[in-house]
Amino acid sequence: MEWPVSALTASEKYTLITDCVVPRPIAWVSSVDVLGKVNIAPFSYFNIVSSDPLIVSLSVNRRMADNGCCEQKDTALNLLSGGDCVIHIPSHDHAPAVHATGSSTPPSDAQIDALGLQFCAAQAVKTPRIQNCAVALEGRLLQNIEVGNPVVADLILVEIVHIFAADDLMHNGHVHPEPYSINAMKRT
Ligand SMILES: Cc1cc2nc3c(=O)[nH]c(=O)nc-3n(C[C@H](O)[C@H](O)[C@H](O)COP(=O)(O)O)c2cc1C
Repeated sequence: MEWPVSALTASEKYTLITDCVVPRPIAWVSSVDVLGKVNIAPFSYFNIVSSDPLIVSLSVNRRMADNGCCEQKDTALNLLSGGDCVIHIPSHDHAPAVHATGSSTPPSDAQIDALGLQFCAAQAVKTPRIQNCAVALEGRLLQNIEVGNPVVADLILVEIVHIFAADDLMHNGHVHPEPYSINAMKRT
């Protein structure tokens, strides 16, 4: 099969590219809004940009607001205003919570509480990390690149300043999250 992209609808482009580019690691990102409320959301348009300095990218798409305009998602707003975040690598056990926090209808505070996520202080940033997530990357905003005209995404570069990995992931001096981490995989 071949597809000239110019003939595809938006939803066909989304389906094709996310079917082709697999697996994609999931960044489960905590951030804090201007009032101090903690937010958490998953992002699969996520990867390493540079290892020294240690920089990762998150592409946070703009979303359609009720008034028909594109607006920034809370994670982008919080990172740009607060300047830091924690990127967790979630496990299979977290899959229901990852999907709940990535829904287009954001969960209410009560639903978030029902997910049973416990947060604890991070070491180097003010955003808290999820206590029982075995890998957490604490990062500071480095740069935001507004992508597209009109803007369709905030491509946010985050410099990782502190890394947490649970002791039981350590084998021969290396972190081994693979058997445990979840990815965005091809649909069945
Ligand atoms: C597995 C998964 C991966 C996702 N990846 C992305 C992504 O890479 N970029 C994006 O903009 N939204 C992505 N989403 C959707 C966001 O998580 C969703 O819009 C979320 O509500 C954003 O929350 P926020 O407004 O609190 O930032 C993903 C959702 C799921 C469930």
